[in-house]
Parts: sequence; structure tokens; C-alpha cells
Amino acid sequence: MNELDSLVESAAQLFAQANTPAELENAKAQFLGKAGRVTELMKGMAQLSVEEKKSRGAAINVAKQAIEAELTARRQALADAELQAQLKAEALDVSLPGRQRGQGGLHPVSLTLERIERIFGSMGFDVAEGPEIETDWFNFTALNTPEDHPARSMHDTFYVEGGTATAPNLLRTHTSPMQIRHAVQHVKKHRATLDAGQAMPEIRVIAPGRTYRVDSDATHSPMFHQCEGLWIGENVSFKDLKVIFTDFCRTFFESDDLVLRFRPSFFPFTEPSAEIDIQFQTGPLAGRWLEVAGSGQVHPNVVRNMGLDPEKYIGFAFGMGPDRLTMLRYGVNDLRLFFDGDIRFLSQFQ
Ligand code: FA5
Ligand code: MG
Repeated sequence: MNELDSLVESAAQLFAQANTPAELENAKAQFLGKAGRVTELMKGMAQLSVEEKKSRGAAINVAKQAIEAELTARRQALADAELQAQLKAEALDVSLPGRQRGQGGLHPVSLTLERIERIFGSMGFDVAEGPEIETDWFNFTALNTPEDHPARSMHDTFYVEGGTATAPNLLRTHTSPMQIRHAVQHVKKHRATLDAGQAMPEIRVIAPGRTYRVDSDATHSPMFHQCEGLWIGENVSFKDLKVIFTDFCRTFFESDDLVLRFRPSFFPFTEPSAEIDIQFQTGPLAGRWLEVAGSGQVHPNVVRNMGLDPEKYIGFAFGMGPDRLTMLRYGVNDLRLFFDGDIRFLSQFQ
């Protein structure tokens, strides 16, 4: 084998060892680059005669073309290998089962809120909505809880910008401000009737929505839901509260022998007041009592702030926790699970 043939062969070997395009370019430079072996051979022809240059030059050119052909072949081989690897990595297995489009559904607490609205709707209650950012007046003062009243510390309040030092704005800590907002609207609507000394249609409303407190454990979430209930008329008593609330719970839980416990309590805006507990029927907490609502007969000062005469108008209010009702209904032992956004948990309630 002559010198040129072995040069072509060593180029072919080196190219074959190159496993990436970059390695191949380095190998190419050793033969075809400015300081490469082929260029050296060309330079080496300087001293030859014209005749010799002709034949030597032609031979070198044949070798150069052979090296270029080896290079092109190797380039193609590397590109093919890369394509194969890519195809393999992105392989589409048409025998795999298809991914189904997830079916959306309502959040378990939304299901509870719908249920609450349906049941109270059937008992003649309207549904009202109000703002989540409240003023100090509606959240506390109008509800017979003046500044410095110790009962304010019963709620750990989130304050927000936009109020004044003495009248800060806040995230409502309960839905009770809706008692005042709704009653004031109702009174305004029936002003003429009231002024004529005639009987005003009763206020019968529920007000569901989000509420906020600096609170977090298995039965408390910083954002939670409440649903206020208010019934004001000329002859509405604490007994009606017990009947209505018990009826609601039995319908909600579809259980005629559900036991409720009315536990004496204190709220500035009701007198007398009671908290209402229900027992878990299912789940890991079966048998345990859980408080679901605060309630009571609306305080005369609150009736006055509604624009009504407390000598003539009387009634009851309650504020229940739909999140707690959802826990009881499904036997869930930690309320925070509802708000973690884990689809595996939430999809079980569809
Ligand atoms: C109140 O908020 C009163 N406004 C209820 C009321 C209305 C009394 C009308 C009288 C008349 P309380 O703080 O107990 O009361 O809350 C009422 C219900 O909301 C509780 O029984 C519970 O079911 C629910 N609740 C309260 N805090 C949380 C929380 N952090 N997470 C989840 N649920 C809560
Ligand atoms: Mg309570």
C-alpha cells in the first residue's frame, strides 16, 4: 500500500472513531485543515519538476477526494444515528390507552352551599350576597360590638388598607354584617309601608359567602365559609330558630333522628345566644360533637341599627359553617383538606 492509500485509510479510521459531529470536525482538521496532512503534502511539492508536480498533484488530489468522501459518509452516518436516537426517545406507543380529558366538577363545599340554598329556598328564604372587605361599622359596631369591646378579641381579624385609624377596613370575620346590610335595604324598600304604620313584610334571608380569620387547625381555616340566616318579624321567637334549624339539618343530612345540641353561649348581637353542635355519624370521628353554628335572638340594639323599632320587631339569626357541615356529611376529619387543592381528594365528592 503506498503512502497516499495509507493516509486515506488512517483518515477513514479516525473518522470512524469520531462519535459526535464535533469530534469529526477535529479529525477532519488533522487531514484537510490548514496544517493538515494533505496540505503538508501539497506544500512538499515545491521542489519537484513541472512533470513530477503534475502526476504527484493528481495523485494527492485523488487521495484528498477519497478523504472527503470518507468524511461525508461519516457525517451522514452520525446524522442518521442522531435521528434514530431522537425517534426512539420520542416514540409514540399507539397501543397505550388514550389520556382522558378530566371531567370537572363542583367543589364539595360548593355542593354544600347549593344544598343550603335549595333547602332554605324551599322554606321561603331569600339569598343575599355582600362584600368580603368590610368596614368596622358593619362587621362590629352595628352588631352591638363597639370599639374596645372585649368580644372583638373573639375574632382574630385580618385588617386591610383603605380605612381610618378609628374605622379600619377588614376582611369580614363572619357573615353577620349581612344582617345589617340586608335589613337596611329591606327597610328602605318598605319605607312607605312602615311610615303608613302598616305591617312590613318579614325579613327572611340567608347570606352565604367567604369569611376570614387568623385561625388554622383541623376545624379552622384562615379562609372559610359561613352562611348567615336572619328572620325578623313581629312575632318570631327563639322557638322558631330551633324548629327551623333542626328542620334544615335533618333535611341536609337526610336523617330524621339527627341530634342537635343547643349550647348556651354569648354573642354581643344576640340575647339569648346559643351555639349549635352536631354529632359525626360516619368517618373516623363518628360520635364526636362538632360546633356548626352560632345563633340567638337578635339584640334590640341591632334591630335599632337595622332601622326598626325593637319594641315591635323581633327575630333570630344564626351563622353556620358550611365547611363543617361538609366535614360532617362526608366524615372528613380535617377541614383544611378542602382547601389544599389536591384533585385526588376533591374528585371523590363527585
Ligand atoms: C359567629 O361568627 C357569629 N357571627 C355567629 C352568629 C350569627 C351568632 C348570628 C349569632 C347570630 P362563631 O365564631 O362561633 O360565630 O362562628 C360560627 C361558625 O362558623 C362556627 O360554628 C363554625 O362552624 C364556623 N367557623 C368559625 N371559624 C371558623 C374557621 N376558622 N374555619 C372554619 N369554620 C369556622
Ligand atoms: Mg363559635
